[in-house]
Amino acid sequence: MKTIFALSVLILMASLDTIGQKTLREATKGEFLFGVAVNMKQVNGVNPIETELITKEFSAIVPENIMKPQPIHPEENKYKWDDADKFVAFGEKNNLTVTGHCLIWHSQIGKWFFVDENGKDVSPEILKERMRQHINAVVSRYKGRIKGWDVVNEAFEDNGTYRKSKFYQILGKDFIKYAFQFAHEADPNAELYYNDYNVETPAKCDAIVQLVKELKADGCRIDAVGSQAHMHMNSPTLDATETSFKKLKTAGIHILITEWDISILPSPYDGANVSANFDYSREMDPYREGVPEAVQQQWNKRMLDMFGLFLKYSDVIDRVTVWGLTDNGTWLNNFPIRGRKDYPVLFDRNNQRKSVVDGMIKMAENYKSKK
Ligand code: G3I
Repeated sequence: MKTIFALSVLILMASLDTIGQKTLREATKGEFLFGVAVNMKQVNGVNPIETELITKEFSAIVPENIMKPQPIHPEENKYKWDDADKFVAFGEKNNLTVTGHCLIWHSQIGKWFFVDENGKDVSPEILKERMRQHINAVVSRYKGRIKGWDVVNEAFEDNGTYRKSKFYQILGKDFIKYAFQFAHEADPNAELYYNDYNVETPAKCDAIVQLVKELKADGCRIDAVGSQAHMHMNSPTLDATETSFKKLKTAGIHILITEWDISILPSPYDGANVSANFDYSREMDPYREGVPEAVQQQWNKRMLDMFGLFLKYSDVIDRVTVWGLTDNGTWLNNFPIRGRKDYPVLFDRNNQRKSVVDGMIKMAENYKSKK
């Protein structure tokens, strides 16, 4: 009797373990890559649990900050490759598809990029040449090892006009075309993407569709549009998100969900412009001590609604990447208010997998079985 009981317990434990072993990496296989943004602590294995979660649960990685212009190219003739080299090697070693983020962005870029020795704006020719050198150095260093690059990040305002960045002020909208040309020259086989937030905003989505058409008409390679998908509990709506997918799909454009997270916190702002900043107050940080079960369930539903939509459009969505591994490390704890505690990604403050992951796995498996 005792033996039968012990045997049943063992079988139960083994089957529970098997359920626990299922990963989003496996469940989404064949539909889209399932990625995560990582930082150097994770690449270096500072907390081995985090590193293991990345290599086990995901099929793709993107560097949250490592490859941006500021850290990789802090001064005109100085490149810092150590972290980026380790990041790419980490992806290869663990059989993770590696995406580069990002070549040209108005943020996290050294001021030197735009000025001469007197601090005056450089000429269009000099800025174009600096762009060429930067893009060529970074892309050619990892040639053949990176599947694709976010070539230009966030060139539009939400109303669909061009952001008046230094790139735009000095070179006009052609800076985007140049960036795509330089990236393609440096690695002709790499995929090239345009990436932005609030792509669900109709005017912005229209502007992006128009940009892709213009780039293609100019003979540029562009493989997909990255929709960052930094979301809140009420915005964007599911309808607005689907409308943006439909618009891109109808225009023959592939989509990447590049920076997915759903903030649970009240927000004075619904963009992802990193310069936005508001004062801390306790009432704007309601889940410091924990997230009540009912609120977790609302968040789960919102995540599953969106994930269902990603699956529905998986014929044109090539990758879904979550922006950060755990609630401890999320950028949203410091944006747009510093020092809060958010709940936007798939692993919680104790590195535990949230219940929503099982829901996503079931949804993906169900979707595949009905195809
Ligand atoms: O590395 C320094 C460190 O030396 C210093 O001690 C510390 C003090 O604050 O700052 C560290 O730099 C921070 C950096 O992240 C690395 O942790 C910057 O202050 C901080 O502003 C920066 O934030 C990043 C943000 O981009 C700004 O570039 C976030 O981690 C990153 O998640 C976020 O990612 C962007 C995407 O690239 C583009 N789309 C929007 C998205 C969210 O803003």
